[in-house]
Amino acid sequence: MSDLRDLIDGLDFYDPAFIADPYPRLGRLREAAPVFRNEQTGHWMLTRFADVHETLRDRRLGRVYHHRYTAAELGQPEPDPRWAAFHQHERWSLLSLEPPDHTRIRRLVSKVFTPRSVAALEPAVAALSRELLDRCRELRTFDLLADYAQPFSVAVICSVLGLPRGDAPRLLDWSHAIVKMYELRASDEMKARADQAAGEFVDYTKALIEAKRRVPDGSLISNLVGVTDGGDRLTDDEIVSTAVVLLEAGHEATVNTLGNGMRALLDHRDQWQRLIDGEVDPAVAVEELLRYDSPLQMFDRWVLEPGVEIAGRSMAVGDRVAMLFGSAQRDPRRFDAPDRFDVGRGDPAHIGFGGGIHFCVGAPLARMELAVALSDLVRRFPGVEIGAEPVRHPAFVIRGLTELRLVVP
Ligand code: HEM
Repeated sequence: MSDLRDLIDGLDFYDPAFIADPYPRLGRLREAAPVFRNEQTGHWMLTRFADVHETLRDRRLGRVYHHRYTAAELGQPEPDPRWAAFHQHERWSLLSLEPPDHTRIRRLVSKVFTPRSVAALEPAVAALSRELLDRCRELRTFDLLADYAQPFSVAVICSVLGLPRGDAPRLLDWSHAIVKMYELRASDEMKARADQAAGEFVDYTKALIEAKRRVPDGSLISNLVGVTDGGDRLTDDEIVSTAVVLLEAGHEATVNTLGNGMRALLDHRDQWQRLIDGEVDPAVAVEELLRYDSPLQMFDRWVLEPGVEIAGRSMAVGDRVAMLFGSAQRDPRRFDAPDRFDVGRGDPAHIGFGGGIHFCVGAPLARMELAVALSDLVRRFPGVEIGAEPVRHPAFVIRGLTELRLVVP
């Protein structure tokens, strides 16, 4: 027990050494306890795959509580009126909704976001990847993130949504400013910038909706404007939040999967060789990239009903439960030799895309994009090497590199 206490007391989500390699400490925590209380963040934390898997599907918990309780009822602060534009922009986001609103909007979004429409995008995605890698070849030394993964993933989501590619830098700036609001230690200055960016983003998207209403173009936003389902349709506010969540959720995790994944592959040259030799299909390897070094390490839920018990621990209404994805994805109860990076593992039933009603709606697109990128990198640059110590984004939840310098021989 005192070992567990020491492990919990020593857990610091801002410690650069923990962020650099959280897996040994997460592993010790997971073996010591399936659930523990983190007073620093105010969460119950779940460490094992089975509990995370089940909690994702447990409808007695929710991503938000405002459909059931007021902030005062749960002893929570009211939303800060200074950041009204920010709250407005995420009001109708799928990630801020629970049934029945979530069900209604997700059904309409899924209607225009099908695996078939994703498959139809593949040739354009492949062309984009080729074009960017042509330039990387000319550079010979390039940053996988700034020169390839970022522009690739943003251009893909722009084309899905029907946004001009030339707007990508502006959208990225907004998106980077907005996500700062989700950091635990965001300053008022960061929050003010996030709020301003959210306001500009909303105005931009509203203008776009008007344009698509006048001239439909078959893009996702255009289809959302036109979609109807038994007389139901999306309001402009709902379309704005939907476009924003697709854009924000739609690029960062994909970029970080590529950065983390390429690093793992080049650190495990034998696994890279299996791709070069054609022994393992890149689409299969993508699943292991997502499991081995998760780009998203933690998601949380509110307990919304009495009587919830997880891993033998009773939870009260208003408790917060954090699911440690990176720990669950290395749980030996679920994965053989979980710390081994094995591109041929071929186990798509990991929890990298979540589970239950909030399961990643963009998973088919992310899988396709990542498979295209990986095949291209393997085919074009089999001899590629890491040219400098990779630079890490100094955060735990969104796990990624800010620079991965590669050299083409
Ligand atoms: C490798 C890339 C990606 C990863 C690892 C990832 C992961 C996830 C996870 C874990 C969730 C569930 C969150 C929760 O349960 O609290 C989620 C939800 C979501 N993702 Fe992704 N995602 C990726 C790419 C994308 C892309 C490309 C898009 C959009 C095109 C996207 C859009 C969304 C949306 C809209 C939701 C919310 C769904 C809902 O609440 O119903 N994601 N994603």
